[in-house]
Amino acid sequence: SSQEYQFLQISEPRPGVGQITLNRPKALNALSTPLITELNTALKAFDKSSSISAILLTGSERAFAAGADIKEMAPLTFSEAYTTSFIESWSTLTTTIKKPIIAAVSGHALGGGCELALMCDILYCTETANFGQPEIKLGTIPGAGGSQRLTRAIGKARAMELILTGKNFSGKEAGEWGVAARTFKDWDALIEGSLKTAETIAGYSKVSVMAAKEVVNKSQDLPLRDGVEYERRVFHSLFGSEDQKIGMKAFAEKKKAEWTHK
Ligand code: HXC
Repeated sequence: SSQEYQFLQISEPRPGVGQITLNRPKALNALSTPLITELNTALKAFDKSSSISAILLTGSERAFAAGADIKEMAPLTFSEAYTTSFIESWSTLTTTIKKPIIAAVSGHALGGGCELALMCDILYCTETANFGQPEIKLGTIPGAGGSQRLTRAIGKARAMELILTGKNFSGKEAGEWGVAARTFKDWDALIEGSLKTAETIAGYSKVSVMAAKEVVNKSQDLPLRDGVEYERRVFHSLFGSEDQKIGMKAFAEKKKAEWTHK
């Protein structure tokens, strides 16, 4: 329940959908280490929960997240950052969570906030969302994958310009450049559209949903030939799931598939 969390709100707004709302409004959801620790706990709980198949991650209308916590980072020394593996825990999102995560971004998504959104599996935003990697203005650089994921998403030319100038880009541009899968007119449309997509995903077999996320993400790490081979292996393995039999039988019988999620 949300009671356990200081910086998050947790809900299950639709069947099979778990929602995490970043809730540190006074700091525009700045991503302090305690907040990230809570986020990891909440994500792992949804990943384990048998009733959840898709996860929605959002902030407020004003800010998805205004970055890592600058006040926490300001006094950090190299030794402290290195020996505590500062920021490494952010990778939980991409290395251990198997269920798809939709980021619904409104308002500021800057620095670590932009990087957090880029780590999610589907990114939706409002047209007026404010993305950027402003770290250069603070005498530092992106530290949670921004230089890598943003570059893959929009190409080197634009990413280099943005990261070197610290200039922001809009949700509208995020849509045009392919960072966002879809853009929405306003906050209400964003949340409704995100919930609809999450509910659609949650309506499918959990086994195939998790496998689909896994193989698409492999495309970011593997050369094409290895990626296609990896996909084929996972595809073969799904013939071992009950839901593949149920899904294909239902098609042949012109019925709606009733998934076991097994
Ligand atoms: C700590 C932050 C913060 C942040 C905002 N706040 N962003 N605190 N870390 N990243 C706090 C402000 O200090 C302020 O606290 C309160 O939130 C409201 O912010 P304002 O600046 O008053 O709001 P506004 O004028 O509307 O401006 C919004 C803003 C601005 C444009 C988003 O806050 C801003 O530029 N924030 C920093 C953005 C940034 O540089 N992000 C990258 C961080 S570096 P008080 O107490 O004064 O009310 C980073 C590194 C990533 O993310 C690498 C590893 C992950």
